[in-house]
Amino acid sequence: MPTASHPRPLRVLVFGAALRAQSSNARLASLAARLVTEANATADLVSMHEFDMPLYDGDAEAARGLPDGAAALHRRIDECDAFVISSPEYNASVPGVLKNAIDWVSRFHPQPFKDKQALLMSASPSLVGGNRGLWALRVPLEHLGTRVYPDMFSLSRSHEGFTQDGNLAHESAQKRLTETVTDFLKLVEADTRYVCLQRRWYEFLGDATDAPVTLRAQD
Ligand SMILES: Cc1cc2nc3c(=O)[nH]c(=O)nc-3n(C[C@H](O)[C@H](O)[C@H](O)COP(=O)(O)O)c2cc1C
Repeated sequence: MPTASHPRPLRVLVFGAALRAQSSNARLASLAARLVTEANATADLVSMHEFDMPLYDGDAEAARGLPDGAAALHRRIDECDAFVISSPEYNASVPGVLKNAIDWVSRFHPQPFKDKQALLMSASPSLVGGNRGLWALRVPLEHLGTRVYPDMFSLSRSHEGFTQDGNLAHESAQKRLTETVTDFLKLVEADTRYVCLQRRWYEFLGDATDAPVTLRAQD
């Protein structure tokens, strides 16, 4: 039974954002989940496959509501204290599958991204490790009020980046990933347990009208 001196473990959703069976981002997410567990938090490791959903269509939403896959992802985000996404970079940006999922889930009211702490990671065979995609991923998440951790982790040369047991092949990369996850969790703990930062969030920055079609501000 959690108490003030022995609170429940932090719950962290760890999300591999690629559909590919041999996804290097799924491997990186799996390693991150293990590091979360070793830091005494609870990891909920999920993959994009669990959240099948159609392309966003406002008419479909009006006719049939929000799809089951989006509802399932919404619930998992809602239940966690923080989330980690490991995403590929497609054409220097966010894969459409992930952006589509964010768009659907953002249609819940209240949407679950607001005020959640998030750590972004990527893996790619390229030398930049998919890092440009993470800068693009920041935009919709920060727009939705997610507190995206300043440090990000990008694994370059991912095709040769893992050992058989799922660690990173380069000791320095493994150390940096471990430190990044551990430091992120310290911030999550501080934010979840000790500090209650409130900030206003507006879907449409600068919007000053009372028209219902634009009024989605959440305090
Ligand atoms: C449509 C497409 C675009 C891509 N664009 C980039 C890119 O801009 N930068 C990059 O580093 N890798 C790019 N890649 C390569 C992916 O990073 C690589 O396929 C990676 O392994 C995908 O992640 P996964 O292993 O988790 O599936 C692209 C791949 C595809 C299919």
